[in-house]
Amino acid sequence: MTAFNLQNGLLHAENVALRTIAQTHQTPTYVYSKAALTQTFARFQSGLLGHDHLICFAVKANPSLAILNLFARLGAGFDIVSGGELARVIAAGGDPKKVVFSGVGKSHAEIRAALEAGIFCFNVESANELQRIQQVAAEMGKTAPVSLRVNPNVDAKTHPYISTGLKNNKFGVAFEDALDLYKQAAQMPNIAVHGIDCHIGSQITELSPFQDALDKVLGLVDALAAENIHIQHIDVGGGVGITYDDETPPDFGTYTAAIMQKLSGRGVKVLFEPGRALVGNAGVLLTKVEYLKPGETKNFAIVDAAMNDLMRPALYDAYHNITTIAPSTAATQTYEVVGPVCESGDFLGHDRALAIEEGDYLAIHSAGAYGMSMASNYNTRARAAEVLVDGDQAHVIREREQITDLFKLERTLP
Ligand code: LLP
Repeated sequence: MTAFNLQNGLLHAENVALRTIAQTHQTPTYVYSKAALTQTFARFQSGLLGHDHLICFAVKANPSLAILNLFARLGAGFDIVSGGELARVIAAGGDPKKVVFSGVGKSHAEIRAALEAGIFCFNVESANELQRIQQVAAEMGKTAPVSLRVNPNVDAKTHPYISTGLKNNKFGVAFEDALDLYKQAAQMPNIAVHGIDCHIGSQITELSPFQDALDKVLGLVDALAAENIHIQHIDVGGGVGITYDDETPPDFGTYTAAIMQKLSGRGVKVLFEPGRALVGNAGVLLTKVEYLKPGETKNFAIVDAAMNDLMRPALYDAYHNITTIAPSTAATQTYEVVGPVCESGDFLGHDRALAIEEGDYLAIHSAGAYGMSMASNYNTRARAAEVLVDGDQAHVIREREQITDLFKLERTLP
């Protein structure tokens, strides 16, 4: 059974009809499939069995406690970028000893919390951050395990999807500076050099950028060995793309084989930080058609989900497939699928052929990654509910926000 499948014309998540979820829990609602999450994780891992590895799910892609808990049970570690994400991982039963901490702006308090929790490694993004980690670790009488996140400056001209591995962005330590900074790190009393890390971008659909980046990283690992600095793990980051429309990203087997082939004989542990690839296609956003509004040049389908629920179309002009979830007798027409938010940029899909009437439900696909995690309360809209389907059971893993929740921390002047 595939996670999202048609049974008697009705779109199901596993064995639960999405229409039943929409009627029971209202809309907009994110719906995830446990089978999809579990199977995707297993597929990613299958090429790594027999190798010393750790799959650190990038929490930012989907920080739901239930989903983190599921991955923790499957043996995953986590890639975090804030103290908040660390707290979530711990609350979800994740093992701090399997956590790597990335991000360019780690605060004193966040470094402290990570040292207290005993994380696996800090992915250090600058010389000043390294100094700060040394200082905090010294205050606490601890030793901080570190990797430097190196920026391999992979050529964007040939690989336009890469956005974080280039010289001109804020991430990582410049490749040319890395050797010197490692030498300094090796001398610091409260720093233990454990690994090396590199993350070159997201939604990457070709293999070669990963290979090019790893080649550069391995060159550095060899240069470090010559300086008697021995790297115990290589973190190759995340970034493997998914199919939203007609993209053809490398399948997991091809991707992991390409990585492992380059690491063969080196005796290092390998870390991965996949986010989107593990959750993106394991979730949909369910929404209801509120109004059909014919226009002079375009027909609008105004739905009850909006840019505050799923920001990717408005922010990146990203494509998400949109389908009905039940048969319809309505005539097929082309619609702009838009939300109720007061911005012209509030769209979920352009020019979509749909057979719909007011009151029908739609599924916005590939919404499991960077969907709910980027949702906001813009226009004082309560954030959506989240449901995780397991077989024929639909579990609410996050209740719909109440409007009063949205202003309960606010005060008027006396
Ligand atoms: N590791 C680091 C250090 C990262 O910065 C990221 C994502 C990941 C891992 C996971 O990357 P993934 O495997 O998911 O590609 N909001 C954007 C994506 C931003 C990704 C930021 N960093 C979107 O909706 O497309």
